[in-house]
Amino acid sequence: LNNDQLVIAIDGPSGSGKSSVSKAVARELGAAYLDTGAMYRAITYSVLADGTDLADASAIAQAVRDAQLEISVDPDAELVKIGGVDVTSAIREPRISEQVSTVATNLDARAELVRRQQEIINANARIVAEGRDITTVVAPDADARILLTASEEARLRRRGLQLGGTQNDSQLANQVLARDAKDSTVVNFTQAADGVMTVDSSDLDFEQTIKAVLDAISTATKN
Ligand code: DC
Repeated sequence: LNNDQLVIAIDGPSGSGKSSVSKAVARELGAAYLDTGAMYRAITYSVLADGTDLADASAIAQAVRDAQLEISVDPDAELVKIGGVDVTSAIREPRISEQVSTVATNLDARAELVRRQQEIINANARIVAEGRDITTVVAPDADARILLTASEEARLRRRGLQLGGTQNDSQLANQVLARDAKDSTVVNFTQAADGVMTVDSSDLDFEQTIKAVLDAISTATKN
């Protein structure tokens, strides 16, 4: 890492509040914001649109290498494009959430996305990057590394609210818990790696969580 650069790495399971908290923290720090999950989602959108066989691991890996992926790092302007198509809202659809683990558990796909994420991080003087493997694989040398956790109950409740009550309990549990279980087979985001600070948001509201993360960042960057 470049000495003048500020890199904040935030990992956590789905429903931990990671995205909204990371975005708010980026605004507070005047930093860019990278949602790495959106990259896995965009690839999933594109392989589904192209009719790529999800069981064909090498076809998926090739699709990632070929992907023309663009992602905004402005915390106030979400924009994701793949092959020139704006997929910003489409990648949030339940059908994507249900299939994205197929891409996320493909190790060749991960290697290529990690490489692109590192490129984006290196291109920004100040950046908050969030995902599942940012503290461990993408940016293990980040200035601050935080694992944002929350109880299962809190995570299900938040994801339910985020989806506007459109999902029943079993759909929600499938999207949140089954997906985390599948994703956990290739990346560990349930326990903090060495040197990674944990912020548990179960009993914190949004503002308190932002403050706890900013406090953790101050502590980490003081040393
Ligand atoms: O955070 P999210 O729900 O948008 O993530 C979408 C999927 O991508 C999720 O199944 C986990 C996976 N993911 C990953 O494996 N590594 C990352 N750095 C980010 C997301």
